[in-house]
Amino acid sequence: MPAASPHTRRAHRTSRRVRLVRRRVLAVTLVLVVGASIATFALPRPSDGEAEAPPSPSATSPAPTPTAAPTPASPAPTSPAPAPTSPAVCDDPAVVDALASGTDAEVVAALGGGEAFRAAVASGEAPCIDVTEAGRTWVVVNKRNALDPLDYWPTPQAQPQGIRVVSGGGWLRADAADALDELAAAIVADGVGTLGVDSAFRPYAYQVDLYNGYVASRGRAAADLRSARPGHSEHQTGLAVDVVACDGGCGSHDGFKGTAEAEWLVDNAWRFGFIIRYEDGATATTGYSWEPWHLRYIGVELAEAYDAGGYGTLEDFFGLPAAPDYDA
Ligand code: DAL
Ligand code: ZN
Repeated sequence: MPAASPHTRRAHRTSRRVRLVRRRVLAVTLVLVVGASIATFALPRPSDGEAEAPPSPSATSPAPTPTAAPTPASPAPTSPAPAPTSPAVCDDPAVVDALASGTDAEVVAALGGGEAFRAAVASGEAPCIDVTEAGRTWVVVNKRNALDPLDYWPTPQAQPQGIRVVSGGGWLRADAADALDELAAAIVADGVGTLGVDSAFRPYAYQVDLYNGYVASRGRAAADLRSARPGHSEHQTGLAVDVVACDGGCGSHDGFKGTAEAEWLVDNAWRFGFIIRYEDGATATTGYSWEPWHLRYIGVELAEAYDAGGYGTLEDFFGLPAAPDYDA
């Protein structure tokens, strides 16, 4: 027999109450006419008046079968039963294994892919994902999140092979170096132009000199819009690279704005796992001016979700607070 609809169940409860009232009236009458002993037998017990009696079968039409047997002595529920909870994502053996011994991409896959990973982090459902963990593609380094340790040094590193390195060694974390090689080949294949690497991995001590140089030449406030303080730069993770356009000779960072290469990166960088970390108009969140040359590797799955969601900052992507300035 099919379970009764809520409407049907309500109708049965109403008719049972009518019958109960009629029985009470009859019982009172009997008390008056026959006597206290008979009335005591006919009246419902005190608790019966509050409890809902179980449905009784009818001779002509069978009562619908309740989905769960009611318990007459129990009070009516005052709040809905809690919804069944899904297993915590961090208890999933696939996630546990990937975090223990898998690649970053395997962790993202174990959580269901880029968008599912992002949503789990942003909602707080994935406390096992630490966005301050320096060695992860999902690390968020900003003015409020310093690297831990402050002199963090990424390994393994590799030099990209398919792109000209204008200054520095061009070293990056190995997976980011491979991805940059693919990106550099694709922009040439698309006939857009050629990229060069101007700055890639920067050790803590290098960032000390770089930042101090900006402060000396521009003052602290202007320096803080352009350069991270030591221990706060994505370049120290090995996941960030500054590119320039190399058509003929290679241009400068500031000369990169408005180039065909810069436009191409806006549309295509995500396909290789990169995002443009410091977009125009995002200073209130990032604390930095627009840097269309600064690419940050987060892996293809996360970068695809970032692009598809139309995010402009990594802070917004993971639901983190804005980091426009330093705590102290
Ligand atoms: N220019 C970026 C913010 C850095 O120094 O890491
Ligand atoms: Zn940079």
